[in-house]
Amino acid sequence: MAKSTKKDGKVKVITYGTFDLFHEGHRRILERAKALGDYLIVGVTTDHYDESRGKLNTVDSIITRIENVKSTGYADEIIVEDHEGQKIEDIQKYGVDIFVEGSDWEGYFDYLKAYCKVVYLKRTPDISSTLVRKDRFRIIRMGIVGTGRIAPRFFDESRYVSGVQVVCAYNPCRDGTVDSFRVRCQCRVLSGEYKRFLSDVDAVFVASPNETHYDYTKRAIEAGKHVLCEKPLAFTVKESEELYALAEEKEVVLMEGVRTAYLPGFQQLLNVAHSGTIGKVVDVEAAFTRLADPRSREMTDFRYGGAFLEFGSYGLLPVFKLLGLDYKNVIIQSITDKENGIDRYTKIQLEYDGALATAKSGAGVKSEGQLIVAGTQGYILAQSPWWLTSSFDVRYEDANKVDHYESSFKGDGFRYEISEFISKVNGTGGITYKLTSEESIAMADIVERFMETRKK
Ligand code: CTP
Repeated sequence: MAKSTKKDGKVKVITYGTFDLFHEGHRRILERAKALGDYLIVGVTTDHYDESRGKLNTVDSIITRIENVKSTGYADEIIVEDHEGQKIEDIQKYGVDIFVEGSDWEGYFDYLKAYCKVVYLKRTPDISSTLVRKDRFRIIRMGIVGTGRIAPRFFDESRYVSGVQVVCAYNPCRDGTVDSFRVRCQCRVLSGEYKRFLSDVDAVFVASPNETHYDYTKRAIEAGKHVLCEKPLAFTVKESEELYALAEEKEVVLMEGVRTAYLPGFQQLLNVAHSGTIGKVVDVEAAFTRLADPRSREMTDFRYGGAFLEFGSYGLLPVFKLLGLDYKNVIIQSITDKENGIDRYTKIQLEYDGALATAKSGAGVKSEGQLIVAGTQGYILAQSPWWLTSSFDVRYEDANKVDHYESSFKGDGFRYEISEFISKVNGTGGITYKLTSEESIAMADIVERFMETRKK
């Protein structure tokens, strides 16, 4: 046992973990950690911290994970770990003598030797949360509809999410993207009957051209498949409502893939805005612009391309999340390309009781891609690219006072959306709040109004 220099002579030991799906390996490390001293502190990670360090698909809630640690009777104190660098703070704050982790972390925490003794205990063989997860939930076989730009990115990111495997893709046209996807991802591409493709998978990611989303989604749901569909899910409220009702009837998951909605950093931004720090929210202003390839579909397809259909959902997302769905008035204005008829720039203005919002999207127009949430006490500024939220500021009247928030953001962000989808499919994701069906239907409402304006 290590000699303590503290007055009470107690040797304090600390260890950390997620402790998801509590198993024998967890129990044994706690038992041995406790035996190294007199007082054991166990740090249990928050969901948010796990997500931000790329540990996705945790099944148990933090309450359950804490309860499980507590019920072993080894922990004298349980704390939560919610940020990088906290271990050093805790060791100093609690006067810790020994830091313990499993041997899978050998060497990784040697930097803590400057503060206390560091012990790596042999990991219990043949058991881990990952293995229990695999036993409990079968791997979801996923198919991608479409082999365009998004498909390989989705394929790559799916590898970071446990419990899912992309097994094939589907494209009825044998265009150039088919071969490049097949070669790059080493993944089968089916081109015949959609039904045949559906029979090989449990779930689909619809990443085909915008106008085909509704149809592919509907047929997949009818076949009893879970669907994650790229935005926009549908072009009318009626279609969108129909799809959600059908998914409910067939008891499958339907999720619209507005990537930002599932990012830990964006969730944090919403929580800060909702917490009252900036007072009452009175204005939300979001912009998303991209100078896309002039030959690309979004720059040439006058019916279903253009700035709004491509990027508009991003701007509407913070508006709906922060101001709700009771908008009183919607103004839609576009700058249309005279040659090909696409909207190069679209501004959607929404009026609420006591609040206003603007969502700007540009294709072939460049502007500052920022999100500003104005409140009665201060404002939030998330700089470009706010839709891949990794940091934001809260600013006040006193320009010297700035609260800066950082959230780690891994890959290109798809993994958080995929992870949410898989936990919903497995029934472990809890209540849907990141993007509700009502919010998704409201997006279809704005799309429908936009399409009417465009026709005129
Ligand atoms: N641990 C152990 N033996 C195991 C599994 C975990 O000693 N078979 C230890 C880890 O080394 C760590 C603590 O238990 O010190 C908490 O680990 P955690 O990451 O929560 O559990 P894992 O089962 O390793 O989770 P995952 O499969 O998600 O990595």
